[in-house]
This record gives sequence, structure tokens and C-alpha cells, in this order.
Amino acid sequence: MNQVLPYVTPLIPAFVVIGFFVWFANWIPQTRWQPPQAQEISAAATPAELAQVGQTIVRQRGCLACHTLEPGAGVKGGGRGPNLSGIAARRAQGVKGGPGNLVEYLAQALYEPGAYLVEGYANIMPPSTGAPASLSYEEVVAVIAYLQSLGRTPTVKVGDVPKPTGVRVAREAKATTPEPAVSTDPAAMFSSFNCGDCHSLKTGEVKLGPALDAPGLKQAAAGRGMNIEAYLIESIVDPKAYERKGFPSGVMPQDYGTRMTAAQLDAFVRYLAAQGKRP
Ligand code: HEC
Ligand code: HEC
Repeated sequence: MNQVLPYVTPLIPAFVVIGFFVWFANWIPQTRWQPPQAQEISAAATPAELAQVGQTIVRQRGCLACHTLEPGAGVKGGGRGPNLSGIAARRAQGVKGGPGNLVEYLAQALYEPGAYLVEGYANIMPPSTGAPASLSYEEVVAVIAYLQSLGRTPTVKVGDVPKPTGVRVAREAKATTPEPAVSTDPAAMFSSFNCGDCHSLKTGEVKLGPALDAPGLKQAAAGRGMNIEAYLIESIVDPKAYERKGFPSGVMPQDYGTRMTAAQLDAFVRYLAAQGKRP
């Protein structure tokens, strides 16, 4: 022992530091509402590997609040957005007047959803590079590989998909039908969409619906296994998907998804999520 001590003693400060970090890491509360971790995606990933990762991303980042994946249910599929099942076969030639192949069409659909509106749908899809999905370039590639796998064989690798440019991710996507001038000021919308009739922003102030405050929204999002932005989008466009216990069912209007523009929905979600981050 006496021969070992001179070697060990200088290391004691290092052990103390390591010990502190081990303790600290265990001490941080392990909560479920943390946004899903960005996916590690290697530049060398094969199209099949990318498709696998893409499937997880589509499930975790709120896409299924609006889209369905129902084989044989046609384009509509009963969702707020088109049925993504079979999309690769359906859009193999892109769209008329838009991108002429599947990969470019899907990139446009993710970066700039309003550039081409699928017939019969409103411009409510948020650009995937923004909240709530917040996809990185590699994640966009993975989602495209996954969408390719829905009806075809995935072929894309990192680098094969165009990167988003400032223009392509412009938040105010242009709609094919002119939209009336709309306010994207969240406080004004809170009253013009009558949210304030049923919700307070103050902690604990219950009206007909729950208070839209930090602890409540975080807890509800955790109960649903979602990040706060994805939960907010779902709650606003599809209130029936998950109803809070202890509140009347079916009273929150079901049509906000069609009455709000993408920009309004986005502004709302950012506002309420930031509201949720206040101490
Ligand atoms: C708030 C609802 C909403 C969310 C969330 C959403 N979408 Fe969409 N999406 C739509 C709607 C509505 C359309 C059809 C209108 C349009 O073309 O923008 C659409 C269109 C699409 C299309 C083109 C479909 C076709 O038939 O040509 C793709 C692909 C797509 N979305 C993928 C995604 C992915 C991937 C995500 C998640 C990262 C996502 N969407 C999130 C509502 C949504
Ligand atoms: C007529 C009353 C009514 C109106 C108007 C209304 N809501 Fe609700 N909302 C409810 C009720 C009741 C619930 C709880 C039951 C449920 O989850 O659907 C709820 C739930 C929610 C939730 C989930 C909250 C949580 O803690 O889980 C959010 C977010 C939300 N509403 C946002 C909005 C926004 C934003 C608006 C305006 C665009 C709005 N609501 C308008 C009645 C309403």
C-alpha cells in the first residue's frame, strides 16, 4: 500500500472531479418531456439505415398529429394531412407544375410545405426545419428515405438531397389561393380565436379548460410522451387525439387546424411554448 500511495495521491483531485460529475448526472431529474435527442446520422449511412432512423423521427416529431399511415385508405386516409402510406408510388413523378421527381418533391414538401398544396388541404403544415420537428439536414434526408420506403425502395444517401436555403425555409409559405390578411400576433390571436374564453395563461386559473401555463403544459406533454411543441400542435389542431382528464370532453373547437394558417399555428406554438419556459 505504501508503495502505491505516492502514485495514487496525485490522482485524488481527478477522482473527486469524476465523482462529482457521476453524482451530478444522477442527480439531474430524469424527466420524459425533454425533446427527443437529435438523431446521430453518419454520412456513410445506407438508404435502408436512413429509412429506419427516418421512421423514428416521423413518429417522434409530431408528423402523425396530422398524417396517417394507412395502407389502402387513399390519399385522404382520414387525417388532417394526406395519408403518407404509398406516397413514394403516388409522387414518383413529382407534381404538375412543381418538382418532377420524388426526392425533390419530398424536399420541397418538407422545407416549404405551402409551395405546393395537396388538393383539398389547408396550408397548416409547419416547415419541418422549424418547430416543432426542427429537423437537421441529415434528419431531412432520413425522413425522405423513410417516405421513399412507403411504396418504393429507399435510394437517398446524405448529400443526395438539396440543402435548405434561406429562401426555401421562409416561414410565410406562399399559398396557391390568396389568404386574407391575418394577424400572427399571439396575444391578438388568443382573443380573436376565443382561446381566452376557455383558457387562462395564469398558473392554476382553471376556466372551462386547463390553464396554459408552464407546469401544466409540461406535465401534459410528458403524459403524452411528446415534446411541448408537438403536444401543442396536436392539442390545437386535433384536440380529440388526447383529452385531459377532469375537463369536459369535446368542447374545444375541432376546426382550428383548418382555420389557422401555418404561420399562425407556428406563432401560437412558439408563444405558448415560451410561456411554458418561464419559471
Ligand atoms: C399541422 C399539421 C401537419 C404536421 C404537423 C405535418 N404535416 Fe405534412 N402536411 C400537412 C397538410 C395539411 C398537408 C397537405 C397540404 C400541403 O401540401 O401542404 C401536408 C403535406 C405533406 C406532404 C406531401 C403529401 C402529398 O401527398 O403530396 C408530406 C410528404 C408531408 N406533409 C410530410 C410531413 C412530415 C414528414 C411531417 C413531420 C416532420 C409533417 N408532414 C408534419 C399537415 C401537417
Ligand atoms: C370552448 C372552450 C375552448 C376554446 C375556445 C379553446 N379551448 Fe383549448 N381546451 C378546452 C378544454 C375543455 C380542454 C381540455 C380537454 C381537452 O384536452 O380537450 C382544452 C385543452 C387545450 C390544450 C391542452 C392543455 C393541456 O394542459 O393539456 C391546449 C394546448 C389548448 N386547449 C389550447 C387552446 C388554444 C390555443 C385555443 C385557441 C386557439 C383553445 N385552446 C380554445 C376548451 C377550449
